[in-house]
Amino acid sequence: MEPNATTPAVATIASLSQHEGQTVTLRGWLYNLRASGKLLFPIFRDGTGTIQGIVPKAAVPEAVFETLKSLTLESSLSVTGKVRADSRAPSGYELDVEDVEVIQRVPDETPFPIQLKEAGVDFLMEHRHLWLRTPRQSAILRVRATIMRAAAEYFDTNGFIRTDPPILTPNACEGTSELFEMDYFDDDKAYLTQSGQLYIEATALALGKVYSFGPTFRAEKSKTRRHLTEFWMIEPEVAYAGLDDIMDLAEAFITHIVSRVLESHRADLKVIGRDVTKLEPILTAQAAPEPGAPGLASETWDRGATTAKFPRLSYDEAHAMLEKAFAEGKLENPHQYGDDFGSPDETYISSQFDRPVMVHRYPAAIKAFYMQPDPTDPSKALCVDVLAPEGYGEIIGGSQRVDSYDLLKSRIEEHNLPLAAFQWYLDLRKYGSVPHAGFGMGIERVVAWLCGLDHVRETIPFARTLNRIYP
Ligand code: 4AD
Ligand code: MG
Repeated sequence: MEPNATTPAVATIASLSQHEGQTVTLRGWLYNLRASGKLLFPIFRDGTGTIQGIVPKAAVPEAVFETLKSLTLESSLSVTGKVRADSRAPSGYELDVEDVEVIQRVPDETPFPIQLKEAGVDFLMEHRHLWLRTPRQSAILRVRATIMRAAAEYFDTNGFIRTDPPILTPNACEGTSELFEMDYFDDDKAYLTQSGQLYIEATALALGKVYSFGPTFRAEKSKTRRHLTEFWMIEPEVAYAGLDDIMDLAEAFITHIVSRVLESHRADLKVIGRDVTKLEPILTAQAAPEPGAPGLASETWDRGATTAKFPRLSYDEAHAMLEKAFAEGKLENPHQYGDDFGSPDETYISSQFDRPVMVHRYPAAIKAFYMQPDPTDPSKALCVDVLAPEGYGEIIGGSQRVDSYDLLKSRIEEHNLPLAAFQWYLDLRKYGSVPHAGFGMGIERVVAWLCGLDHVRETIPFARTLNRIYP
C-alpha cells in the first residue's frame, strides 16, 4: 500500500535518520518501560536497534496511555509516532508516540524470563532463544554476519571459486580422537567433517584457487572458552602456492575483515563494549615493527626482508621468546621445546604485538599428517598458526601440503589412518601433483576477538558444546 496522509510510512529504527520530523510506524517489541507520574518512557526494539518513546498522558488518547502503561516486556507491537532528533539519545532520536497496536501481549502470569539485570550464564544459555533479543546479543550477531560476508567477499573478489565439500565423510581430517561418528546405512560408518580441506585440495587442482565455507565438527572433550563442537570454518586452498603465499593471503584477508567490521559496526561495537582502538592498528599498520622496537619485549625474532604487516615468528623464535619471558618471571610455567603452545604461551606471544602474529614451522611431530616438511629442516612442518592479539588465541591454522605420493602414503601409514579411505586423496599426488597450500579460519574465534568476548558461546546463535545441545 502506498503511504499517504493517513497511513504513516513503515520504518526501521536503523533508518530513522531519513524520517526526522515525520510520523512513522515501527514494528517490533517492547524492550523496556519506565514510568514517571504522567509520563511513560517505553523503549522499543525492532531488530535493527532500540529507540526510546515519550508518552505524556495529556498528549495521547487515554487508551494509548493505558495500553502502554501496563504492557508487559517483549509484547509485540506496532507503534506510530513522530521522529525527533535528540543528541542525548543513544540512537540520536526519540519517538513522540501517537498510537500503539499490540500484536501479542505477553501474559502477566508468564513474564519474559530474562530480566534486564544480570542473569547467570547457565540461565541465559538455557534461554538462548530469548537471550538473542537483547541489544548486546543482537549486536554480536550483526557483527558476525558482516564477518561472514566480508570473508566470503574477499575470496569472491580475488579469483577464488567457492566449492562446497561434503559434510558426511568416510575419514578423518584433523585427528581421529575428535570425530563425530554415525551409522551410514547397512554396515557403514560416516563422520561429520572436521574440515573441508582434503576435498578442496581436489577442487584446487581442478580450478586453481578455491575456498569452502561451512559448518565443521569436532568432538572436543575440552571445556574451554575457545572450543565449540560445531563451528563455521572458511578455508581457501591454492594450487602452485607455498607457505609464504598463504601467510600473505591470511594477512590481506584478516585486514579486509577488520576493515569491513570497523566500517559499519562502530555503534554495535559500542553496545558490546569493545575498545575499537585495539583494532585500529591493524588497518593503519605499515610493515611489522622491528625486533626490539618500543613496546616489544622481544629481540628474539627475525623480521627479515619483508613488507609484511603482521609479525612472522618461527616456532623456534616463539620458543625463545617464551624462554626469556619465563626467565624474567613473566610466565608461570616454562615452555617445553617440542610441545605445542599452551593458552598462556599464546597469550604471552600475542601480547607482544598490537596486531595478529603468525607463528610458522612447528615441529612436524605435533602437526597433521598432510603437512609438507620444511626442506631446510624436515623435523619442522611448513605450517602457520595466526594468533589474534589480546590473548584471543589461534584464529587461523594452515599449511603447505605434502605433494609427494610416497611421502604422503607413508605419513598416512605412520598415523595409522585407513589407507583405503584416503586412496582418492593419494590420487591427487599421482595425477599432476603440484605444491599447494591453504588455511582454515574459525568464524567464532574471529567474532570473539573482534567483539572482545571472553567466550565463544556468544558468537554463534546456538552454541554447541560438550555439555550443551539445547535449545
Ligand atoms: O587449526 P585447524 O584444526 O585446521 C584445520 O582444520 C585445517 N584443515 C584448515 C586448513 O588448512 N584448511 O582449524 C582451523 C581453525 C582454527 O584456527 C580455529 O580458528 C578454528 O578452526 N577451530 C575451532 N573453532 C571453534 N571451536 C573448535 N573446536 C575449533 N577447532 C578449530
Ligand atoms: Mg590449529
